[in-house]
Amino acid sequence: MIRADALQPAFGVYVHWPFCLSKCPYCDFNSHVRHQPIDEERFARAFEREIATTAARTPGREVTSIFLGGGTPSLMQPKTVGAILDSIGKHWCVTGDVEVSMEANPTSVDATRFHGYRAAGVNRVSLGVQALNDASLKSLGRLHSAREALDAVAIARSVFDRYSFDLIYARPDQTPAMWTEELKLAISEAAEHLSLYQLTIEEGTPFFGLHAAGKLKTPDEDMARILYDVTQEVCAQHGLPSYEISNHAREGAQCKHNLVYWRGQEYAGIGPGAHGRLDINGVRHAIATEKRPETWLMRVEATGHGVSADEILNSEERADEFLLMGLRLGEGIDPARYQALSGRALDPERIRILREEGAIVVEENGRLRVTQEGFPVLDAVVADLAA
Ligand SMILES: C[S@@+](CC[C@H](N)C(=O)[O-])C[C@H]1O[C@@H](n2cnc3c(N)ncnc32)[C@H](O)[C@@H]1O
Ligand code: SF4
Repeated sequence: MIRADALQPAFGVYVHWPFCLSKCPYCDFNSHVRHQPIDEERFARAFEREIATTAARTPGREVTSIFLGGGTPSLMQPKTVGAILDSIGKHWCVTGDVEVSMEANPTSVDATRFHGYRAAGVNRVSLGVQALNDASLKSLGRLHSAREALDAVAIARSVFDRYSFDLIYARPDQTPAMWTEELKLAISEAAEHLSLYQLTIEEGTPFFGLHAAGKLKTPDEDMARILYDVTQEVCAQHGLPSYEISNHAREGAQCKHNLVYWRGQEYAGIGPGAHGRLDINGVRHAIATEKRPETWLMRVEATGHGVSADEILNSEERADEFLLMGLRLGEGIDPARYQALSGRALDPERIRILREEGAIVVEENGRLRVTQEGFPVLDAVVADLAA
């Protein structure tokens, strides 16, 4: 469990690389396939310009974490990654123990670059393994085999002190017994951190069409619940308890960057389709950048940034976001902070009912957190508390 009392100052920088070799049929992230080579130097210059502009809006911040996400950032040359990290160091102060994570696809080609990424300043990788058997990988449209993924994990282990990998579960036809075995194999390969996501069927993806047409059958609610419970039990038994609804870590190995989001702290979003939350002149800005990579590039070249939306969150929006993100965490939230943000306390009667139902608990130190029973119905719990 994370030390819930310690809300250290933190400032994260998220950088989005929006390209992939192919589009996975379940994925609705801002990722694009290009059949021409990407002009990485031009993109690196644009990243630096947007970093400079954003840093000028946030003077005095000390960067505690950087996350290179995508898309597939491991398609970048190490020198492009180096240029981006150097730009961040040039325009902001960066703490000595900064966590620098990078998402990587587990193909052999990407793994050969790991030494270069480490030399560029990356100190943690997160591999998109998704499944540990070839039939599932094929049905997920992945370009790598299970063997290749495990080889990439082994290379990550030899190059980085910190690594994690992602699996998607509640896949079509997955039984609790199959998932238990796969999970045990994953845990034996994982050092300190695993991200375990339930497959979601996102509108606009090929899986959405197949699902609607009855050609892709995902586990029903009861089976999804059983698979979720198996995930919690097996991971906890093997020393990787969940610290967030989909993230598991050994003590002290939580992803610092993602904690920034869930704790409602400040972060900058750089690159096409990146999101940021910045406190400027005492108010919180929710910022998003242009999603189309080439349009973003031209905008940055013309104006110094690719921002397409910059909204000030009012106190209620800010407090709702705090609740929505914070209740995903095992450490839960401090109700006093909710009150400070929203100007009103959480309704004691609603808290009483949710406690009686076993969906939440209030700790001795006053923190409010969702229970294992409450997590599968988290959206309803949040909606109830926020109403
Ligand atoms: C932004 S993706 C990037 C990772 C990297 N491009 C890769 O695919 O290896 C981050 C993670 O989100 C998860 N993900 C994406 N779409 C999902 C979906 N529809 N349901 C569940 N998990 C999903 C996958 O586990 C993926 O590794
Ligand atoms: S899951 Fe990863 S590789 Fe697949 S399309 Fe999404 S971002 Fe790209």
